[in-house]
Amino acid sequence: MFLRLLLFNLIAILFIRPAETQDQPAITQVIWPEIKRVGMTGYLNCTVTRQGINKVYWIRKSDQLIISTDDRVQVDNTINERLDGQLKFDVLKKVSGDQTIYTLIVRRLVISDSGNYTCSVIVTGASIKPSKDGEIVVLIPPTIKQGVTTQTVNVNEFGSVNLTCDAVGYPTPNISWVRVNGSPLPPPYNKYMHRGKVLQLVNVEASSRGMYRCIADNNVRPLATYDTTVYVNFKPISRPIQSTYGQAANRLFDVTIDCIVAGYPPPDMNWYKIDRLEYKPIIDDDFHIINQMLSHGQQLGISEVWYQLTIINVRANDYGNYICQGTNKLGTSQYNITVFETSECQGANCPLEGGTVSRATLTSRTRYDVTGMCLVLVFTLEFLRYYVARV
Ligand SMILES: *[C@@H]1O[C@H](CO)[C@@H](O)[C@H](O)[C@H]1NC(C)=O
Ligand SMILES: *[C@@H]1O[C@H](CO)[C@@H](O)[C@H](O)[C@H]1NC(C)=O
Ligand SMILES: *[C@@H]1O[C@H](CO)[C@@H](O)[C@H](O)[C@H]1NC(C)=O
Ligand SMILES: *[C@@H]1O[C@H](CO)[C@@H](O)[C@H](O)[C@H]1NC(C)=O
Ligand SMILES: *[C@@H]1O[C@H](CO)[C@@H](O)[C@H](O)[C@H]1NC(C)=O
Repeated sequence: MFLRLLLFNLIAILFIRPAETQDQPAITQVIWPEIKRVGMTGYLNCTVTRQGINKVYWIRKSDQLIISTDDRVQVDNTINERLDGQLKFDVLKKVSGDQTIYTLIVRRLVISDSGNYTCSVIVTGASIKPSKDGEIVVLIPPTIKQGVTTQTVNVNEFGSVNLTCDAVGYPTPNISWVRVNGSPLPPPYNKYMHRGKVLQLVNVEASSRGMYRCIADNNVRPLATYDTTVYVNFKPISRPIQSTYGQAANRLFDVTIDCIVAGYPPPDMNWYKIDRLEYKPIIDDDFHIINQMLSHGQQLGISEVWYQLTIINVRANDYGNYICQGTNKLGTSQYNITVFETSECQGANCPLEGGTVSRATLTSRTRYDVTGMCLVLVFTLEFLRYYVARV
Protein backbone atom coordinates (compact mmCIF):
# COMPACT_ATOMS: atom_id res chain seq x y z
CA MET A 1 0.00 0.00 0.00
CA PHE A 2 2.73 2.37 1.09
CA LEU A 3 4.80 1.40 -1.91
CA ARG A 4 1.92 2.08 -4.27
CA LEU A 5 1.46 5.50 -2.77
CA LEU A 6 5.14 6.27 -3.16
CA LEU A 7 5.07 5.09 -6.71
CA PHE A 8 2.06 7.24 -7.49
CA ASN A 9 3.78 10.24 -5.96
CA LEU A 10 6.91 9.56 -7.94
CA ILE A 11 4.93 9.34 -11.14
CA ALA A 12 3.12 12.53 -10.19
CA ILE A 13 6.40 14.34 -9.54
CA LEU A 14 8.17 12.97 -12.59
CA PHE A 15 5.42 13.08 -15.15
CA ILE A 16 2.20 14.72 -14.17
CA ARG A 17 3.43 18.04 -12.76
CA PRO A 18 6.03 18.73 -15.41
CA ALA A 19 3.62 17.57 -18.05
CA GLU A 20 1.01 19.97 -16.70
CA THR A 21 3.31 23.03 -16.86
CA GLN A 22 4.65 22.03 -20.23
CA ASP A 23 1.15 22.04 -21.64
CA GLN A 24 0.47 25.49 -20.21
CA PRO A 25 0.78 28.58 -22.39
CA ALA A 26 3.72 30.88 -21.72
CA ILE A 27 5.11 34.20 -22.90
CA THR A 28 8.57 33.16 -23.88
CA GLN A 29 10.39 36.33 -24.87
CA VAL A 30 10.91 39.74 -23.33
CA ILE A 31 8.85 42.47 -24.91
CA TRP A 32 11.43 44.95 -26.09
CA PRO A 33 10.71 48.59 -25.26
CA GLU A 34 9.67 50.71 -28.21
CA ILE A 35 11.30 54.15 -28.28
CA LYS A 36 9.76 56.31 -30.99
CA ARG A 37 9.29 59.94 -31.92
CA VAL A 38 5.92 61.58 -31.48
CA GLY A 39 3.69 60.92 -34.53
CA MET A 40 5.37 57.62 -35.43
CA THR A 41 4.00 54.09 -35.00
CA GLY A 42 4.98 51.85 -32.08
CA TYR A 43 5.11 48.03 -32.18
CA LEU A 44 5.18 45.65 -29.19
CA ASN A 45 5.60 41.91 -29.79
CA CYS A 46 4.16 39.35 -27.43
CA THR A 47 5.41 35.86 -28.23
CA VAL A 48 3.11 33.13 -26.83
CA THR A 49 3.84 29.39 -26.94
CA ARG A 50 1.24 26.66 -26.66
CA GLN A 51 -1.63 29.13 -26.72
CA GLY A 52 -4.19 26.39 -27.29
CA ILE A 53 -7.71 27.60 -26.80
CA ASN A 54 -6.64 30.34 -24.40
CA LYS A 55 -7.04 34.03 -25.10
CA VAL A 56 -4.23 36.61 -25.32
CA TYR A 57 -4.93 40.15 -24.20
CA TRP A 58 -3.12 43.45 -24.67
CA ILE A 59 -3.97 45.79 -21.78
CA ARG A 60 -2.95 49.43 -21.28
CA LYS A 61 -1.48 49.32 -17.79
CA SER A 62 -2.20 52.87 -16.66
CA ASP A 63 -5.99 52.49 -16.83
CA GLN A 64 -6.34 48.71 -17.38
CA LEU A 65 -7.99 49.35 -20.73
CA ILE A 66 -8.34 46.09 -22.64
CA ILE A 67 -7.12 46.95 -26.11
CA SER A 68 -7.39 43.55 -27.75
CA THR A 69 -8.34 39.90 -27.41
CA ASP A 70 -6.26 37.70 -29.68
CA ASP A 71 -6.27 39.50 -33.04
CA ARG A 72 -9.47 41.45 -32.36
CA VAL A 73 -9.29 45.08 -31.26
CA GLN A 74 -11.72 45.69 -28.41
CA VAL A 75 -11.63 49.44 -27.93
CA ASP A 76 -14.53 51.28 -29.48
CA ASN A 77 -14.38 53.84 -32.26
CA THR A 78 -14.25 56.82 -29.91
CA ILE A 79 -10.84 55.70 -28.67
CA ASN A 80 -9.77 53.81 -31.74
CA GLU A 81 -10.07 56.69 -34.17
CA ARG A 82 -9.50 56.10 -37.84
CA LEU A 83 -7.34 58.78 -39.46
CA ASP A 84 -6.08 58.53 -43.05
CA GLY A 85 -7.68 55.08 -43.20
CA GLN A 86 -5.65 53.76 -40.26
CA LEU A 87 -6.81 52.93 -36.78
CA LYS A 88 -5.09 54.16 -33.66
CA PHE A 89 -4.72 50.59 -32.36
CA ASP A 90 -4.27 47.39 -34.26
CA VAL A 91 -3.14 43.83 -33.52
CA LEU A 92 -1.34 41.51 -35.89
CA LYS A 93 -1.23 37.75 -35.36
CA LYS A 94 1.55 35.62 -36.78
CA VAL A 95 1.83 31.89 -36.19
CA SER A 96 5.02 29.92 -36.61
CA GLY A 97 5.22 26.42 -35.17
CA ASP A 98 3.85 26.43 -31.64
CA GLN A 99 4.61 30.14 -31.30
CA THR A 100 2.14 32.92 -31.94
CA ILE A 101 3.27 36.54 -32.04
CA TYR A 102 0.70 39.18 -31.22
CA THR A 103 2.02 42.57 -32.32
CA LEU A 104 0.31 45.54 -30.73
CA ILE A 105 0.42 48.52 -33.10
CA VAL A 106 -0.06 52.03 -31.71
CA ARG A 107 -0.17 54.67 -34.43
CA ARG A 108 0.23 58.46 -34.37
CA LEU A 109 2.03 58.33 -31.03
CA VAL A 110 1.29 61.11 -28.57
CA ILE A 111 2.81 61.72 -25.16
CA SER A 112 -0.10 59.99 -23.39
CA ASP A 113 0.70 56.77 -25.26
CA SER A 114 3.91 56.56 -23.21
CA GLY A 115 3.81 53.82 -20.61
CA ASN A 116 3.55 50.12 -20.09
CA TYR A 117 1.31 47.71 -21.96
CA THR A 118 0.64 44.26 -20.52
CA CYS A 119 0.33 41.13 -22.60
CA SER A 120 -1.65 38.50 -20.65
CA VAL A 121 -2.83 34.98 -21.33
CA ILE A 122 -5.93 33.96 -19.43
CA VAL A 123 -5.77 30.21 -19.01
CA THR A 124 -9.21 28.65 -18.78
CA GLY A 125 -9.76 26.51 -15.71
CA ALA A 126 -6.45 27.49 -14.12
CA SER A 127 -5.29 30.20 -11.80
CA ILE A 128 -2.07 30.91 -13.67
CA LYS A 129 -1.98 34.02 -15.80
CA PRO A 130 1.26 34.46 -17.73
CA SER A 131 1.91 38.11 -18.45
CA LYS A 132 4.70 40.49 -19.46
CA ASP A 133 4.96 44.26 -19.81
CA GLY A 134 6.27 46.16 -22.78
CA GLU A 135 7.03 49.87 -22.60
CA ILE A 136 6.40 52.55 -25.21
CA VAL A 137 8.54 55.66 -24.84
CA VAL A 138 7.39 58.64 -26.91
CA LEU A 139 10.20 61.05 -27.75
CA ILE A 140 9.21 64.68 -28.13
CA PRO A 141 11.53 67.28 -29.64
CA PRO A 142 12.02 70.37 -27.48
CA THR A 143 9.76 73.42 -27.62
CA ILE A 144 10.68 76.70 -25.96
CA LYS A 145 8.24 77.71 -23.22
CA GLN A 146 6.83 81.10 -24.04
CA GLY A 147 6.14 83.34 -21.07
CA VAL A 148 9.01 81.92 -19.02
CA THR A 149 11.62 82.70 -21.64
CA THR A 150 12.99 86.24 -21.78
CA GLN A 151 12.15 87.97 -25.07
CA THR A 152 13.80 91.38 -24.84
CA VAL A 153 15.29 93.21 -21.90
CA ASN A 154 16.52 96.72 -21.38
CA VAL A 155 19.23 97.22 -18.79
CA ASN A 156 21.26 100.24 -17.74
CA GLU A 157 24.98 100.19 -18.30
CA PHE A 158 26.66 98.54 -15.26
CA GLY A 159 23.29 97.14 -14.15
CA SER A 160 22.30 93.47 -13.84
CA VAL A 161 19.71 91.28 -15.47
CA ASN A 162 18.87 87.58 -15.59
CA LEU A 163 17.93 85.93 -18.86
CA THR A 164 15.81 82.83 -18.41
CA CYS A 165 14.79 80.11 -20.80
CA ASP A 166 12.88 76.89 -20.42
CA ALA A 167 11.62 74.21 -22.77
CA VAL A 168 9.39 71.16 -22.76
CA GLY A 169 10.00 67.85 -24.51
CA TYR A 170 10.79 64.23 -23.72
CA PRO A 171 13.36 63.52 -22.39
CA THR A 172 13.57 66.82 -20.48
CA PRO A 173 15.75 69.08 -22.64
CA ASN A 174 19.07 70.53 -21.55
CA ILE A 175 19.19 74.33 -21.80
CA SER A 176 22.26 76.32 -22.75
CA TRP A 177 23.09 79.89 -23.72
CA VAL A 178 25.40 81.35 -26.38
CA ARG A 179 25.87 84.75 -28.02
CA VAL A 180 24.48 85.03 -31.54
CA ASN A 181 27.46 87.08 -32.78
CA GLY A 182 29.83 84.26 -31.86
CA SER A 183 31.73 86.13 -29.17
CA PRO A 184 32.24 84.75 -25.65
CA LEU A 185 29.64 85.38 -22.96
CA PRO A 186 30.44 88.41 -20.79
CA PRO A 187 32.21 88.03 -17.42
CA PRO A 188 32.08 86.14 -15.13
CA TYR A 189 31.36 83.46 -17.78
CA ASN A 190 34.07 84.38 -20.32
CA LYS A 191 33.30 81.19 -22.22
CA TYR A 192 31.25 80.52 -25.32
CA MET A 193 28.48 78.45 -23.75
CA HIS A 194 26.71 78.36 -20.43
CA ARG A 195 24.64 75.32 -19.45
CA GLY A 196 21.58 76.19 -17.43
CA LYS A 197 18.20 77.86 -17.63
CA VAL A 198 19.42 81.22 -16.27
CA LEU A 199 22.12 83.44 -17.70
CA GLN A 200 23.10 86.09 -15.17
CA LEU A 201 24.38 89.30 -16.67
CA VAL A 202 26.06 91.48 -14.05
CA ASN A 203 27.82 94.83 -14.37
CA VAL A 204 26.61 94.97 -17.97
CA GLU A 205 28.75 96.89 -20.44
CA ALA A 206 27.64 98.41 -23.74
CA SER A 207 29.56 95.67 -25.54
CA SER A 208 27.33 93.07 -23.89
CA ARG A 209 24.31 94.30 -25.81
CA GLY A 210 22.94 92.15 -28.59
CA MET A 211 21.34 88.78 -29.11
CA TYR A 212 21.68 85.81 -26.81
CA ARG A 213 20.51 82.42 -28.03
CA CYS A 214 18.93 79.84 -25.79
CA ILE A 215 19.33 76.29 -27.12
CA ALA A 216 17.09 73.45 -25.90
CA ASP A 217 18.40 70.00 -26.76
CA ASN A 218 17.22 66.52 -25.76
CA ASN A 219 18.80 64.62 -28.66
CA VAL A 220 15.44 64.48 -30.45
CA ARG A 221 15.68 66.61 -33.58
CA PRO A 222 15.03 69.36 -34.33
CA LEU A 223 16.47 71.24 -31.39
CA ALA A 224 14.73 74.44 -30.36
CA THR A 225 16.33 77.88 -30.13
CA TYR A 226 15.17 81.28 -29.02
CA ASP A 227 16.94 84.61 -29.47
CA THR A 228 16.70 87.10 -26.65
CA THR A 229 17.68 90.70 -27.34
CA VAL A 230 19.48 92.66 -24.65
CA TYR A 231 19.41 96.44 -25.00
CA VAL A 232 21.89 98.30 -22.84
CA ASN A 233 21.28 101.99 -22.18
CA PHE A 234 24.52 103.84 -22.85
CA LYS A 235 25.81 107.22 -23.95
CA PRO A 236 26.57 107.49 -27.67
CA ILE A 237 30.00 106.52 -28.95
CA SER A 238 31.38 107.12 -32.47
CA ARG A 239 33.21 104.65 -34.60
CA PRO A 240 35.44 106.23 -37.26
CA ILE A 241 35.30 105.08 -40.85
CA GLN A 242 37.48 107.76 -42.40
CA SER A 243 38.40 111.15 -40.93
CA THR A 244 39.23 112.97 -44.17
CA TYR A 245 37.58 113.05 -47.59
CA GLY A 246 38.90 114.83 -50.73
CA GLN A 247 37.01 116.13 -53.75
CA ALA A 248 37.67 118.54 -56.64
CA ALA A 249 35.71 121.79 -56.71
CA ASN A 250 33.21 123.25 -59.14
CA ARG A 251 33.06 120.24 -61.45
CA LEU A 252 29.68 118.85 -60.45
CA PHE A 253 31.25 116.19 -58.21
CA ASP A 254 29.63 115.09 -54.97
CA VAL A 255 31.24 113.81 -51.80
CA THR A 256 29.64 111.50 -49.24
CA ILE A 257 31.01 111.44 -45.71
CA ASP A 258 30.17 108.67 -43.24
CA CYS A 259 29.90 108.35 -39.54
CA ILE A 260 28.84 105.43 -37.32
CA VAL A 261 27.38 106.20 -33.92
CA ALA A 262 26.29 103.69 -31.33
CA GLY A 263 23.99 104.52 -28.43
CA TYR A 264 20.83 103.46 -26.66
CA PRO A 265 18.16 104.79 -26.54
CA PRO A 266 18.77 105.52 -30.25
CA PRO A 267 20.61 108.86 -30.44
CA ASP A 268 19.31 111.93 -32.27
CA MET A 269 21.74 112.54 -35.10
CA ASN A 270 22.87 115.90 -36.44
CA TRP A 271 25.44 117.18 -38.90
CA TYR A 272 27.22 120.51 -38.43
CA LYS A 273 29.73 122.47 -40.45
CA ILE A 274 32.30 124.37 -38.41
CA ASP A 275 32.28 127.92 -39.57
CA ARG A 276 34.58 130.29 -37.64
CA LEU A 277 34.35 128.07 -34.51
CA GLU A 278 30.58 127.99 -34.78
CA TYR A 279 28.52 124.86 -35.37
CA LYS A 280 26.21 125.56 -38.32
CA PRO A 281 23.50 122.87 -38.53
CA ILE A 282 23.22 121.15 -41.90
CA ILE A 283 19.77 120.25 -43.12
CA ASP A 284 18.62 118.03 -45.95
CA ASP A 285 18.18 120.53 -48.81
CA ASP A 286 19.17 121.14 -52.44
CA PHE A 287 22.83 121.15 -51.44
CA HIS A 288 22.89 118.22 -49.01
CA ILE A 289 21.40 114.79 -48.72
CA ILE A 290 21.26 113.27 -45.25
CA ASN A 291 20.86 109.54 -44.99
CA GLN A 292 20.46 107.33 -41.96
CA MET A 293 20.86 103.57 -42.18
CA LEU A 294 19.97 101.30 -39.32
CA SER A 295 21.32 98.22 -40.98
CA HIS A 296 24.05 98.06 -43.57
CA GLY A 297 24.65 94.48 -44.49
CA GLN A 298 26.47 92.79 -41.63
CA GLN A 299 28.56 95.86 -40.88
CA LEU A 300 26.33 97.41 -38.25
CA GLY A 301 25.87 96.06 -34.76
CA ILE A 302 22.79 96.47 -32.61
CA SER A 303 22.19 100.07 -31.43
CA GLU A 304 24.46 101.38 -34.20
CA VAL A 305 23.46 103.95 -36.81
CA TRP A 306 25.28 104.66 -40.04
CA TYR A 307 24.89 108.32 -40.78
CA GLN A 308 25.73 109.77 -44.20
CA LEU A 309 26.00 113.29 -45.56
CA THR A 310 26.28 113.90 -49.30
CA ILE A 311 27.48 117.33 -50.33
CA ILE A 312 26.12 117.89 -53.81
CA ASN A 313 28.37 119.52 -56.40
CA VAL A 314 31.28 120.39 -54.15
CA ARG A 315 32.40 124.02 -54.25
CA ALA A 316 35.17 125.96 -52.56
CA ASN A 317 33.16 127.03 -49.54
CA ASP A 318 32.21 123.39 -48.80
CA TYR A 319 35.76 122.54 -47.65
CA GLY A 320 36.43 122.44 -43.95
CA ASN A 321 35.46 120.50 -40.87
CA TYR A 322 32.19 118.68 -40.34
CA ILE A 323 30.80 117.34 -37.10
CA CYS A 324 28.63 114.28 -36.84
CA GLN A 325 26.86 114.33 -33.51
CA GLY A 326 24.71 111.78 -31.68
CA THR A 327 22.81 112.67 -28.53
CA ASN A 328 20.62 110.68 -26.16
CA LYS A 329 19.50 111.18 -22.56
CA LEU A 330 22.79 109.76 -21.31
CA GLY A 331 25.11 112.04 -23.26
CA THR A 332 26.58 113.17 -26.55
CA SER A 333 29.28 111.97 -28.85
CA GLN A 334 30.72 113.73 -31.83
CA TYR A 335 33.02 112.91 -34.64
CA ASN A 336 35.12 115.38 -36.63
CA ILE A 337 35.50 114.87 -40.39
CA THR A 338 37.55 117.05 -42.74
CA VAL A 339 36.67 117.66 -46.40
CA PHE A 340 39.61 118.99 -48.41
CA GLU A 341 40.21 120.10 -51.97
CA THR A 342 41.84 117.89 -54.58
CA SER A 343 42.70 118.64 -58.20
CA GLU A 344 41.14 115.44 -59.57
CA CYS A 345 37.80 113.78 -58.99
CA GLN A 346 37.84 111.36 -56.01
CA GLY A 347 35.74 108.31 -55.34
CA ALA A 348 33.93 105.54 -57.16
CA ASN A 349 31.57 107.76 -59.12
CA CYS A 350 34.18 109.68 -61.12
CA PRO A 351 33.92 109.85 -64.94
CA LEU A 352 36.25 107.51 -66.83
CA GLU A 353 39.61 108.85 -67.97
CA GLY A 354 39.13 110.63 -71.34
CA GLY A 355 35.40 109.96 -71.19
CA THR A 356 32.69 112.43 -71.85
CA VAL A 357 32.15 115.15 -69.33
CA SER A 358 29.14 114.02 -67.40
CA ARG A 359 27.83 114.22 -63.90
CA ALA A 360 29.82 112.11 -61.53
CA THR A 361 26.76 110.84 -59.74
CA LEU A 362 23.12 110.98 -60.45
CA THR A 363 21.66 112.30 -57.27
CA SER A 364 17.98 112.86 -56.83
CA ARG A 365 18.52 116.56 -56.53
CA THR A 366 20.97 118.83 -58.32
CA ARG A 367 22.23 122.20 -57.46
CA TYR A 368 20.53 124.80 -59.66
CA ASP A 369 23.63 126.71 -60.48
CA VAL A 370 24.89 128.61 -63.47
CA THR A 371 26.43 125.56 -65.12
CA GLY A 372 23.17 123.69 -64.99
CA MET A 373 21.26 126.63 -66.39
CA CYS A 374 23.76 126.98 -69.26
CA LEU A 375 23.35 123.29 -70.16
CA VAL A 376 19.58 123.63 -70.23
CA LEU A 377 19.90 126.70 -72.44
CA VAL A 378 22.28 124.94 -74.86
CA PHE A 379 19.99 121.93 -75.13
CA THR A 380 16.95 124.14 -75.72
CA LEU A 381 18.74 126.08 -78.46
CA GLU A 382 19.96 122.86 -80.11
CA PHE A 383 16.46 121.45 -80.05
CA LEU A 384 14.98 124.61 -81.55
CA ARG A 385 17.61 124.60 -84.30
CA TYR A 386 16.82 120.95 -85.13
CA TYR A 387 13.10 121.68 -85.09
CA VAL A 388 13.39 124.76 -87.33
CA ALA A 389 15.63 122.85 -89.76
CA ARG A 390 13.04 120.04 -90.13
CA VAL A 391 10.18 122.49 -90.73
C1 LIG B 1 7.82 41.90 -34.01
O1 LIG B 1 7.22 40.94 -34.82
C2 LIG B 1 7.19 41.24 -36.20
C3 LIG B 1 6.36 40.20 -36.90
O2 LIG B 1 6.80 38.92 -36.60
C4 LIG B 1 8.61 41.32 -36.71
O3 LIG B 1 8.60 41.66 -38.07
C5 LIG B 1 9.37 42.36 -35.94
O4 LIG B 1 10.73 42.41 -36.30
C6 LIG B 1 9.28 42.11 -34.44
N1 LIG B 1 9.86 43.22 -33.72
C7 LIG B 1 10.60 43.07 -32.63
C8 LIG B 1 11.09 44.32 -31.99
O5 LIG B 1 10.86 41.98 -32.17
C1 LIG C 1 7.13 50.57 -17.10
O1 LIG C 1 7.57 49.50 -16.33
C2 LIG C 1 8.93 49.55 -15.98
C3 LIG C 1 9.29 48.26 -15.27
O2 LIG C 1 8.37 47.99 -14.25
C4 LIG C 1 9.19 50.77 -15.11
O3 LIG C 1 10.55 50.88 -14.76
C5 LIG C 1 8.76 52.00 -15.88
O4 LIG C 1 8.90 53.16 -15.06
C6 LIG C 1 7.33 51.87 -16.34
N1 LIG C 1 7.06 53.00 -17.22
C7 LIG C 1 6.08 53.87 -17.00
C8 LIG C 1 5.97 55.00 -17.97
O5 LIG C 1 5.32 53.78 -16.07
C1 LIG D 1 19.48 86.64 -10.83
O1 LIG D 1 19.32 85.38 -10.21
C2 LIG D 1 20.13 85.22 -9.05
C3 LIG D 1 20.01 83.80 -8.58
O2 LIG D 1 18.67 83.40 -8.54
C4 LIG D 1 19.68 86.23 -7.99
O3 LIG D 1 20.49 86.10 -6.86
C5 LIG D 1 19.82 87.63 -8.57
O4 LIG D 1 19.32 88.58 -7.64
C6 LIG D 1 19.06 87.75 -9.87
N1 LIG D 1 19.39 89.04 -10.46
C7 LIG D 1 18.46 89.85 -10.95
C8 LIG D 1 18.94 91.11 -11.56
O5 LIG D 1 17.26 89.58 -10.91
C1 LIG E 1 21.94 66.64 -20.90
O1 LIG E 1 23.32 66.84 -20.76
C2 LIG E 1 23.98 65.79 -20.06
C3 LIG E 1 25.43 66.19 -19.87
O2 LIG E 1 26.02 66.47 -21.09
C4 LIG E 1 23.85 64.49 -20.84
O3 LIG E 1 24.46 63.46 -20.14
C5 LIG E 1 22.38 64.20 -21.02
O4 LIG E 1 22.22 63.06 -21.84
C6 LIG E 1 21.67 65.37 -21.68
N1 LIG E 1 20.24 65.12 -21.69
C7 LIG E 1 19.53 65.04 -22.82
C8 LIG E 1 18.08 64.80 -22.64
O5 LIG E 1 20.03 65.15 -23.92
C1 LIG F 1 38.49 118.90 -36.22
O1 LIG F 1 39.73 118.37 -36.71
C2 LIG F 1 40.62 119.38 -37.24
C3 LIG F 1 41.79 118.68 -37.83
O2 LIG F 1 42.30 117.69 -36.99
C4 LIG F 1 40.98 120.36 -36.14
O3 LIG F 1 41.79 121.36 -36.67
C5 LIG F 1 39.70 120.96 -35.58
O4 LIG F 1 40.00 121.80 -34.49
C6 LIG F 1 38.77 119.90 -35.11
N1 LIG F 1 37.51 120.49 -34.69
C7 LIG F 1 36.80 120.06 -33.64
C8 LIG F 1 35.56 120.81 -33.33
O5 LIG F 1 37.14 119.10 -32.98
